[in-house]
Amino acid sequence: MNDTHEVRITTQDRSARCPADQSVLEALLRDDIWLPHSCTQGTCGTCKVRVLEGEVDHRDSSEYTLTSHERAAGIALGCQATPCSDLALEPAERVDPGDAVPRHPLRDHGGTVVLLDDIARDVRRLVVELDEPMGFNAGQYAEIRVPGTEVSRQYSMANPPSRSDRLEFHVKRTPGGVATDGWMFAGLRPGDRVELKGPLGDFGSNPPSGGAAIMIAGGTGLAPLTSIVRHVLAGESAPPLYLYHGGREQRDLYDAEFFRELEQHHERFTYRPCLSEQQWDGAMGAVTDVVLDDFASCKGLSAYLCGPPGMIEAGVKALKRRRMAPRRIFREEFPDASDNFAGAR
Ligand code: FES
Repeated sequence: MNDTHEVRITTQDRSARCPADQSVLEALLRDDIWLPHSCTQGTCGTCKVRVLEGEVDHRDSSEYTLTSHERAAGIALGCQATPCSDLALEPAERVDPGDAVPRHPLRDHGGTVVLLDDIARDVRRLVVELDEPMGFNAGQYAEIRVPGTEVSRQYSMANPPSRSDRLEFHVKRTPGGVATDGWMFAGLRPGDRVELKGPLGDFGSNPPSGGAAIMIAGGTGLAPLTSIVRHVLAGESAPPLYLYHGGREQRDLYDAEFFRELEQHHERFTYRPCLSEQQWDGAMGAVTDVVLDDFASCKGLSAYLCGPPGMIEAGVKALKRRRMAPRRIFREEFPDASDNFAGAR
């Protein structure tokens, strides 16, 4: 039988049982105990914890994300570290879990594919009807298991949380990829069963409220922003929202009609698709340059960026140049995105 250990978060005075082969982050989230996290892959460093008592196995934590100096100082990555004994932990950065959004426990789910549709170049819309609803916050993601393998892939929900029983994902094909070329773009059909776990991620923790928000998407980075936009616009006093979607050519853009219609019904919502390579009558250039052209100042505004690392880096630079406060910039990277600003995580 698998050993389990007690993992206590001192700042919340709560604890969970954690199997010796499970990450402390997963055990806490499954027990509805919140710990900041984003990638769950050991690359972003958001989940750093200070080990106050006990010992952990750092497993695959890389020197890049967790330096030997940090390890020596008792820091661990919550999404990688497994317990070797009972533990007392605190988040490495003091964060107030806050009550801006509800928290939803991490759970395993099963569901049936009800829609699989090609919507852009190498992009499919996948809709899964779950056996049991999965509560989540707009901007979060789920991890979908590839059948017959040990492989899982992360995809953000594009539907608003009000449809917690029917999840929509935008899947970018990765040439030769096990999950996409080997399954979702090959054998997967409506009616097939899918296993996943969720919700995960921090991107939904600071929803737009009060001031205007600029949302910048590259490729399938549009998915979590669609969820946020739909959720916020369904509320009573939605702030002004400016949604930018970048691609190389028109065939990289999708759901344009949906957003144009949304514009007709919500005067505080603006949709700006941008193309970097094809001449057309819309905005031209890198999506982040179009934002720079549109805003003389971003002081007091907030921003949500989702897409490949290069786009995020350029976007953060552009927004800072326009005097947006760094603490108002929220980002979600899709590291494997292709050069047309599209991709799965
Ligand atoms: S490194 Fe743990 S959530 Fe990103």
